[in-house]
Amino acid sequence: MPGDDGYFDERVAARYDEGEPEMFDPAVVDPAVDFLVELAGEGRALELAIGTGRIALPLAQRGVPVHGIDMSKAMVARLREKPGGDDIGVTIGDFATTTVEGTFSVAYLVFNTIQNLTTQAGQVACFRNVAAHLEPGGCFVIEVGVPSLRRLPPGETIRAFHLSETRWGIDEFDVANQGLISHHFQIVDGRVERNSVPFRYVWPEELDLMAQLAGMSLRERWSGWKREPFTSESLKHVSVWEKPRD
Ligand SMILES: C[S@@+](CC[C@H](N)C(=O)[O-])C[C@H]1O[C@@H](n2cnc3c(N)ncnc32)[C@H](O)[C@@H]1O
Repeated sequence: MPGDDGYFDERVAARYDEGEPEMFDPAVVDPAVDFLVELAGEGRALELAIGTGRIALPLAQRGVPVHGIDMSKAMVARLREKPGGDDIGVTIGDFATTTVEGTFSVAYLVFNTIQNLTTQAGQVACFRNVAAHLEPGGCFVIEVGVPSLRRLPPGETIRAFHLSETRWGIDEFDVANQGLISHHFQIVDGRVERNSVPFRYVWPEELDLMAQLAGMSLRERWSGWKREPFTSESLKHVSVWEKPRD
């Protein structure tokens, strides 16, 4: 069972930035930051699950005041080590329920992390928590994969999502409960290390209903940060829900 840092403990945090280096590539980060700068306007941004600051640091460098929430002190310690990392306020806690001072023009939760909340009630609580932190007219942005059930042959529950010389990734689905365990195996110093993380996969329309329960409505849905169209073939979506102005 995970400790206070959840699944992103010291061992995971130490290698987080190297684990998927492509996610730190400016070609991936810059369009997300551009998107968020535009929505932030003159206001502040709240990042749920700020982690090591992959998005928060470049966003702050663009002049947007950012505050973060994360349950992992180990991940936040990595953020603090980076240039500008000490200037970003972070509250340690569960992003579904943790409250922070002030209001925000944009809140965002990227890299599939809504799925780290493993119950529907937890995901609904997250939307309600965000709505309570947004200014009127403020926006909540989520980046998350479309559940990959179309790739699961009938009767199968296991799907490999990564295979390389030193790393293997296998998703194990519990379709009846919208559950998913991502098993990561990696060779480190000649030994195989395993990290199995539970998720609750969630459909775009279900997220819209969660937004509605929290008093928000869908404003935009794209398949990427450059506002590519969202279609039946899209593997992920970037969705924006808005809190009413009055
Ligand atoms: C995949 S990382 C994403 C970090 C960062 N947003 C990024 O894009 O690189 C997921 C982060 O979510 C945090 N996290 C997961 N579940 C959480 C929860 N319920 N409350 C707060 N933080 C959580 C982890 O500690 C970790 O830092």
